[in-house]
Amino acid sequence: VTADQTIVVSNRGPLSFRFDAEAEGELQPLTGGGGLVSSLRPLLAGGGAETMWISMTMGPADEAAVTAGRMLDPALTLRSVTVDPDTYRMAYDVVANTTLWYIHHHLFDLPRRPRFDRHWHRAWEGYRAYNQAMADVVAAEASIGALVLVQDYHFSLLGRMLTQGRPDLRTVHFCHIPFADPNMLRVLPDHAAGELLAGLAGFGACGFHAQRWAEGFRACFADAELAALAGLAPSAGPPSFVSSLTPDQEGLQAEAAGPACAGSVEQLRAETGGRRIILRVDRVEPSKNIVRGMLAFEELLETHPEWVGAVVHLALVYPSRQGLADYLALEAEVAHVAERINHTWGTPEWRPIVLHVEDDRARSLAALTIYDVLLVNPVRDGLNLVAKEGPVLNTADGVLVLSRQAGVWEELAEPSLDINPFDVSGTAEALHAALVMDPAERRRRAEQLSTLVWSRTAADWMQDQRAAAGL
Ligand code: F6P
Repeated sequence: VTADQTIVVSNRGPLSFRFDAEAEGELQPLTGGGGLVSSLRPLLAGGGAETMWISMTMGPADEAAVTAGRMLDPALTLRSVTVDPDTYRMAYDVVANTTLWYIHHHLFDLPRRPRFDRHWHRAWEGYRAYNQAMADVVAAEASIGALVLVQDYHFSLLGRMLTQGRPDLRTVHFCHIPFADPNMLRVLPDHAAGELLAGLAGFGACGFHAQRWAEGFRACFADAELAALAGLAPSAGPPSFVSSLTPDQEGLQAEAAGPACAGSVEQLRAETGGRRIILRVDRVEPSKNIVRGMLAFEELLETHPEWVGAVVHLALVYPSRQGLADYLALEAEVAHVAERINHTWGTPEWRPIVLHVEDDRARSLAALTIYDVLLVNPVRDGLNLVAKEGPVLNTADGVLVLSRQAGVWEELAEPSLDINPFDVSGTAEALHAALVMDPAERRRRAEQLSTLVWSRTAADWMQDQRAAAGL
């Protein structure tokens, strides 16, 4: 069976723009953020007219680029969908990122939040309209029997919408974040939980990075109360599958071998003074657990004074979703905690935490080549690509300290030092164990990590989507 056309659907596309303040507001292209785009684009490039990526315009600069005919990728066909700014804000900020993202990550502080008031219910209508706008464009662009690969929680409702309008299409949904357990999904207002499950049930198949998220998904459909909200009988839900994404290993290595990264390595060596390095590379997101990581580093200094002056916590974090108050507050908290620890422990020669809050890819890749310990401690994470990028690039037999709540833990548990991400003392002990591990053991684990990460390619992930669609 073949499908002549492949359409990828996501909120953020491979290309976005900003107005350059220093060049009289000229349009400046940015490569799209996040692991989804960096892993998927190389796979789709070269697909020409048969491969289309449909995404949303994310602001006025993207809209201006579409109008000016600049939303073009030489290697694949791009389409952009625009909804009015109010609808976009309700769908992307309020529902997708402040509600569904928190529900699926189990991150709500339930005594206080969420609060589903009339503004929120209106925002849900915006989310529905945003999904419908995408469904209309897909229906207009797709050839008969096309394969439609829908990415992420922004488009949970698309399955049912497409089934109604274009039953000939082969549709797959892939969720790059965790999926809520039934008790957490029940937090959503009844109509929203029902619409969400009915929307997902319309897809031909639904994919996840890890078994545990697929299990949560199936448990929601098996739950009589939730299924009834969707107008369904309890069942295992639509076909589900597990397939973890992998970074473009060769592309990463080529980038890391370039002059920009070499310059960054030198700069980082100077900043850390040649000391041992405990690295983290993350977007500033509530799931990433950056503050507990810093507190664990401080406890390491308290309980193992031999590390005072001998190790640096290098925290390279990228601003994320700055339209959301929680994210801005978290950024401020991260800066404050780093400053307090540096004030308490630092000396004129030694800055214990070197924090950079800036999107600097060359510096991040450079840091991944030289760390002694990579700290990946999310409280809950769909996959975590950084945990795979590290072993591809690192040349220092670096040890991976990995949260059991990261989807990638299912693949990389054996050669990692695993942690409960809530346990600050346990994390401090794991950091110590990583730093004192004997060189032969470090090497053995590093080699095993590398073998595991290279055992799959991003193309395997794509093939799994096609197989899930029966192709
Ligand atoms: O982590 C979820 C996710 O949607 C990824 O799949 C994607 O790479 C990233 O977040 C995009 O985030 P945003 O477009 O909101 O910055």
